Amino acid sequence: MKPSKVPALQGPSSRRATGQKRLLQTVRLPELVRENTQSLRRERAFQGITAARCLLSSRPMESKRILIVDDEQNAREALRTMLLEEGYEVSEASDGQEALEALPEFAPAVVLADVRMPKMDGITLLRKAREAGYDSAFVMMTAFGSIETAVEAMRAGAENFLVKPLDINAVLVVLSKVLEKTRLVRETETLRARVQERYRFPNIIGDSPELQSVFDVVKRAAPTRATVLLLGESGTGKELVAQAIHEESPRKGKPFIKVNCAALSESLLESELFGHEKGSFTGAVGRREGRFELADQGTLFLDEIGEISPSLQIKLLRALQQREFERVGGTQTLKVDVRVVTATNRDLAGEVKAGRFREDLYYRLNVVAVTLPPLRQRKGDIPALVNHFIEKYATNYGKVVRGLAPGTLNALLRHDWPGNVRELENVVERAVVLAPGSQLTADDLPATLRGPRPVARSAESLIPGATLYDIERESILRTLEMVDGSTARAAEVLGISVRKIQYRLKEYASSAPSSEANESNEDDTETDEEAGGRTH
Ligand SMILES: Nc1ncnc2c1ncn2[C@@H]1O[C@H](COP(=O)(O)OP(=O)(O)OP(=O)(O)O)[C@@H](O)[C@H]1O
Ligand SMILES: [Mg+2]
Repeated sequence: MKPSKVPALQGPSSRRATGQKRLLQTVRLPELVRENTQSLRRERAFQGITAARCLLSSRPMESKRILIVDDEQNAREALRTMLLEEGYEVSEASDGQEALEALPEFAPAVVLADVRMPKMDGITLLRKAREAGYDSAFVMMTAFGSIETAVEAMRAGAENFLVKPLDINAVLVVLSKVLEKTRLVRETETLRARVQERYRFPNIIGDSPELQSVFDVVKRAAPTRATVLLLGESGTGKELVAQAIHEESPRKGKPFIKVNCAALSESLLESELFGHEKGSFTGAVGRREGRFELADQGTLFLDEIGEISPSLQIKLLRALQQREFERVGGTQTLKVDVRVVTATNRDLAGEVKAGRFREDLYYRLNVVAVTLPPLRQRKGDIPALVNHFIEKYATNYGKVVRGLAPGTLNALLRHDWPGNVRELENVVERAVVLAPGSQLTADDLPATLRGPRPVARSAESLIPGATLYDIERESILRTLEMVDGSTARAAEVLGISVRKIQYRLKEYASSAPSSEANESNEDDTETDEEAGGRTH
């Protein structure tokens, strides 16, 4: 036995001062612990709720499993008796090695480990547990006076440490704090996972029902080889979705090649797509591979497809149908394995009707069509987009900008965004550059967006004479400002559904909210209007 180790539990410090209850190894510990626990209970009855009890009972613990690791049996027994009485589930190990073996089966929330032990000490145990991927929290028990060991334990990743001889109250307080922290971390992780699931694509922000139905189609089409036609106004995110389709497909890791069909003349575009042989036209000094070849095994994104000339439309049709083509000026037929995604902000069906776009090519391209809704139809996505762009540009410009000042979101919701997300991104970028403070205000927005100055608001000034609808509106907008625009987090805070927030934001964006709509949507059930027009 190590002489410096006193496997003891002490009662509250007031009693410790009397020295009466100092426990020695020779004393039969379980009885004393019980006595200690009972006297502690009596004290609580007098004092009301102790801090430990308060923490313990504040929230239900997800896991109350504690693994005690100590080479001294008496110390283990003393702790076990006390923890069992407090409702914990307890298991024991007599050294680090034994503890490591117990981790997978018992899966403790907290490992209460002595530092000094034969075979494997507590800190080595902690390191090995982390290496093996176990995430139980560690609380180390160190002998009085060995502060350095405690520091080393904390550095190695321990949550906390207790000084021996142990004090019952300290043990309970530390355990409940650690468990509370574990619970919060877990909750945050769950929430983050849920939010990610809702967003689905890492770079595409928005959880409006309109965007969700786009995601649904994209998720299903992406893993296939189907040609996808992306439709939608300028700035709605077509290119972003094209990239997401590639990233979500088995072609991820292979080339994603983009060609802007509007940027090149007919002959240059042909050579860009299919390549050319040396001397095939003036200036063709060497042989050049086309984009189709470069995209082999990967994805070819043809942007502004509505702009290509009739003769190129025929060549493209053949390349898509037969998956073969010749370089300009070449005779050799080349075969490639390319997935084609195209985009246009034109009404392609209208172009077909007007005879400007080949119908057969249109059907080839239009195997799966995805229409990106304009931002004005999904204003519920504005808060999350704004937050995303604030973060992006605050980092880019090295500025400390954390969110929107009260009233700013309202101005952003009122605007119609003809340039869609691109316009919103530009507005936020400009505001981040110009903002003098850590919050963006209406003054940082372009004059066209500012509108009337927001009335100064306070929670008190809201109540008298305000309608319930007004109060709800203020709560939703202010909560969104508080949680950096995340509708998922605002919904959690307010205890309502994300869908309801989305729906309300749409209402706030239109200048005159209809009272009928308010009344008919008091519950969280989805109505056709709330779900938004499906894009497909
Ligand atoms: N949902 C979104 N989340 C985050 N950023 C977005 C989103 N939608 C668009 N953006 C951003 O807005 C800008 C415009 O998007 P993108 O280039 O994909 O639009 P587009 O539909 O291809 O427009 P155009 O028809 O003018 O080419 C880009 O900077 C893009 O990153
Ligand atoms: Mg584009």
